[in-house]
Amino acid sequence: MVETVVEVENLYYSYNSHPVLRGINLEIRRGEIVAIMGENGAGKTTLIKHFNGLLKPKKGLVKVFGVDTRKVSVAELSRKVGLVFQNPDHQLFAETVEKEVEFALRNFGFKEEVIKRRVEWALNLMGLTKYRNRSPFTLSIGERKRLAIASVLSYDPELIIFDEPTAGQDFLQKERIAELLNLLRTQGKTVIIVTHDVEFVATRFERVIVMSQGRIIGDGSFRKILSNLEILKKARLLPPQIVKCAWLLSDIGIPRDIIYPEELVEKLEKILRR
Ligand SMILES: Nc1ncnc2c1ncn2[C@@H]1O[C@H](COP(=O)(O)OP(=O)(O)OP(=O)(O)O)[C@@H](O)[C@H]1O
Ligand SMILES: [Mg+2]
Repeated sequence: MVETVVEVENLYYSYNSHPVLRGINLEIRRGEIVAIMGENGAGKTTLIKHFNGLLKPKKGLVKVFGVDTRKVSVAELSRKVGLVFQNPDHQLFAETVEKEVEFALRNFGFKEEVIKRRVEWALNLMGLTKYRNRSPFTLSIGERKRLAIASVLSYDPELIIFDEPTAGQDFLQKERIAELLNLLRTQGKTVIIVTHDVEFVATRFERVIVMSQGRIIGDGSFRKILSNLEILKKARLLPPQIVKCAWLLSDIGIPRDIIYPEELVEKLEKILRR
């Protein structure tokens, strides 16, 4: 069963008179794990804020789970759409870490015992259990980001959108987020991640959408996007080190569309054995 979760048709958006989104067309299906990349100011955050109805199109159409976002409130959409903000301070407000996660659950009317269970689960998943009685504002920026993720995951939305989740996270925490992606994948959730982190995207995303100056300039597999120098340059994306190595070795017969270390090793072994 193929089902469209997000449908964007000829979307235009401007803040005041400054045009930011300029004719976006896009479809995201149930169960897809999608990365959105692009330079600073490309319009990524502006685009995803349309997916939970925080922003409404100035022109064009955005449908989420088949519903025109102009016809529903953020509150109605948020049960099915979880958005983790780029800046956690725009999301966090409760007195303690625990209360922060409880809030949305209470709001959605979950039973007390479910709330208790979900809070434990989400705090543990994001490595925050030991901070449960602290004020969110005493947490480090990386911890605050994880708290924002925990509070969205706790109510189990169908579509989860993360704006720059790996920014400011160390290796271990990035691995945690990667594991989380795997979990959401096995649950059949639809996930959209906005990121500049090319190395993080490399092994984990089937589909990459590249934005530049308010438009989509590339949409396809990571391999396809990365072998397109023009797209990389426009979106100011640096290719992963392994891709650069492959390019440098193209003179000796290494294909230019290598993206994984294992592939490079395999090709090199073949060449060396000749
Ligand atoms: N509330 C606002 N009022 C006016 N202009 C805004 C507002 N929010 C964003 N902009 C402008 O819109 C453009 C796109 O911003 P947006 O935050 O969508 O970019 P982005 O691709 O998410 O960038 P980044 O990678 O830096 O997060 C930028 O030029 C920004 O300055
Ligand atoms: Mg942004």
